[in-house]
Amino acid sequence: MPGDKSISHRAAMLAAIADGTSQIRNYATSADCASTLSCLQKLGVRIERDGAQIVIHGVGAKGLSQPEGDLDCGNSGTTMRLLAGIVAGQNLATALTGDESLRSRPMQRVIEPLELMGAVVSSDNGRAPLRIQGRDALKPIDYELLVASAQVKSCILLAGLTAEGKTTVVENEITRDHTERLLRWFGAPLEVGKPKREPDQARFAAVTGPAQLRARNLTIPGDISSAAYFVGASAMLPGSTLEINDVGLNETRTALLEILAAMNFIEVSNAHEEAGEPVGTIRMSGTGAAPPLKELDAPLEIGGPQIPRLIDELPLLAVIGSQTRGGIEIRNAKELRMKESDRIATTVEALRAMGGSVEEFEDGLRVTGSTKLNGARIDSHGDHRIAMSFAIAGLVAEGETEIVGAECVAISFPEFFDLLESVVER
Ligand code: S3P
Repeated sequence: MPGDKSISHRAAMLAAIADGTSQIRNYATSADCASTLSCLQKLGVRIERDGAQIVIHGVGAKGLSQPEGDLDCGNSGTTMRLLAGIVAGQNLATALTGDESLRSRPMQRVIEPLELMGAVVSSDNGRAPLRIQGRDALKPIDYELLVASAQVKSCILLAGLTAEGKTTVVENEITRDHTERLLRWFGAPLEVGKPKREPDQARFAAVTGPAQLRARNLTIPGDISSAAYFVGASAMLPGSTLEINDVGLNETRTALLEILAAMNFIEVSNAHEEAGEPVGTIRMSGTGAAPPLKELDAPLEIGGPQIPRLIDELPLLAVIGSQTRGGIEIRNAKELRMKESDRIATTVEALRAMGGSVEEFEDGLRVTGSTKLNGARIDSHGDHRIAMSFAIAGLVAEGETEIVGAECVAISFPEFFDLLESVVER
């Protein structure tokens, strides 16, 4: 698998503000992660790239330079929200913008904490472009996340690196913790733990600034969210076997594997760590005779704290749910409407186009199981996860499926179709 997108963004950003030169291997091939590199270059960071291997010459905690023109984050919410935290902590005037989809996504969630820390941010009604006047010494804050978002958490922690004192972020639902792990890897003074209050699953992460990171080398684990499409395909295709090496197995990302493990045979081997991230080989095998997914009678119910742990896999899981006996109900997933497309609406539209029976809720959807899907013309709405989820649906559908705008897979996984062709037997 190509390198994990979330980890690649963070590794590049931390290497950029570290002291010294970092080598990153298996950097994500995704267009989103290229957006991060080009923004960092505009901020004066020297980067050499040879395919998936990059070398970043860190400029130190306060060493970014005033960019000429806007910082174009493309389609990438992670680039925009995390970079906002970095530029807010330096005496720079920057403008962060992106494509039409990114300019329609909510940014108030990062504007509010950055303003509390003393940055001056203007926006188009809480949407990009974001104009940020940063400050060399931000004020530390104690902040409770209003939405379960690793991007918002990370933005605040990155801004906290240059604040004078301890910045704490509390989350009531656990989100991916790659920023915390990498901050440690790059030598930042970081604390994580459980706050003394409800709910039980609440966690905090705190960084004490001003902090100076040290350059480190690392290999990015394979992207579990990209692997998920192949794992999902294997789960739905009887008799298939699949082995994926060196894939990230961070617990904050593996809810889909846990759900499928309950229905299928998934084995993890060669477990080890890369830069503080758990990595391993996953091997799955269908049962051969009958689709193993049909074993499940009761509808799968997905919601609550599971949601952030499989947020990017939900369109795929909806497809998988159509092939289980009991179907699937996904709730508490309102955030899906804020992604590269409104993923509740686009998933419902696509599943219905293939003959699926789907009920739409404000915060999720219910899909009837044991459905024979038919090939159809599916509009990806320019959303990479919709394009890939319904390409996988096309494998189990009767007849031909056409994905309109399929080139958008390059946002996270340019190799997707080639790799799919190489593993599917005709
Ligand atoms: C990401 C966090 C998630 C996820 C996105 C990547 C990250 O978004 O959907 O694809 O790298 O932090 P939110 O944190 O906004 O939920």
